[in-house]
Amino acid sequence: MTLPRRVRIVEVGPRDGLQNVPVTVPTDVKVGLIERLLAAGLTAIEVGSFVSPAWVPQMADTAAVLARLPPNPAGRYAVLVPNLKGFEAARAAGAGEVAIFASASEAFSRANINGSIAESLERFAPVAAASRAAGIPLRGYVSCVLGCPYEGEVAPEAVARVARRLVDLGCHEVSLGDTIGAGTPDRARACLAAVAGVVPPERLALHFHDTRGQALANIRACLDLGVSVIDAAVAGLGGCPYARGATGNVATEAVVEALAALGIATGVDPARLAEAGRFITGALARAGAG
Ligand code: HMG
Ligand code: MG
Repeated sequence: MTLPRRVRIVEVGPRDGLQNVPVTVPTDVKVGLIERLLAAGLTAIEVGSFVSPAWVPQMADTAAVLARLPPNPAGRYAVLVPNLKGFEAARAAGAGEVAIFASASEAFSRANINGSIAESLERFAPVAAASRAAGIPLRGYVSCVLGCPYEGEVAPEAVARVARRLVDLGCHEVSLGDTIGAGTPDRARACLAAVAGVVPPERLALHFHDTRGQALANIRACLDLGVSVIDAAVAGLGGCPYARGATGNVATEAVVEALAALGIATGVDPARLAEAGRFITGALARAGAG
């Protein structure tokens, strides 16, 4: 297969990037960041999550963020929801898309959402039904696709099984998370190939954290397998509070530049994206988290 001509970037910085920072980021700053991302041409933006505020306090103002955002006619503001309670809050707040998040590893599933993989999929079934009834698009995540902070190696077959279940639940797209950046190009490719055997690659996204500086190489190794959606976070922000040692997502700036060098369009303006990066890194530094 050849390289895609165009890649859709899903900007996860306001959610994945800010859910783990050691300071409280004011709602104003989150809104300012998202406005700048929009101005840079990013339209698929994950703006927060409706999870337990006791588990992830940084996302507790997601409804307030959504209430203040400008319209996004060319795209969608997405949020994570772990259960029906989260979905109802997301719907009430006007989220344009909701994402459920499962894991390919049992131990991470328990650490992150306090339930086994099977229990999490049971919790997601009513979310999927409610999102279908409300006409709100549903995205899915599989975490730990290239390694688990608790269990080590994860078999591609385990990833494929969970990805398929998420599609069967009604996810229009499933994002494959290298939560701790443990992947290598060969293993990333093997994992994607295994998943693409049960889910069409056009419905898959790559969500690679850059803990070991391998995320871009891993993305490059997958790009000729039919995938054309990449999750990234401005300024490489990010990490999961329940995956110790996990650092940021691959930086959106780096993805845009690497894709441009391959002749692949993203519709993102690098100068305006850099301005969004300066805005958030400056705000975090001033708050003592830079
Ligand atoms: P639990 O403690 O088992 O939940 O947590 P529970 O159902 O027993 O409820 C306990 C309390 O939480 C109750 O409140 C509920 O109302 C409340 P209380 O009665 O004690 O006052 N609660 C909620 N509040 C607000 N919104 C909700 C909600 N649900 C329950 N939706 C639960 C289970 C799933 C809620 C918890 O484990 C949780 O919120 N986990 C989220 C963890 C998280 O957000 N992790 C980071 C995102 S995942 C990620 O980063 C990976 C990803 O980027 C991909 C990758 O990189 O691999 C997506
Ligand atoms: Mg992530």
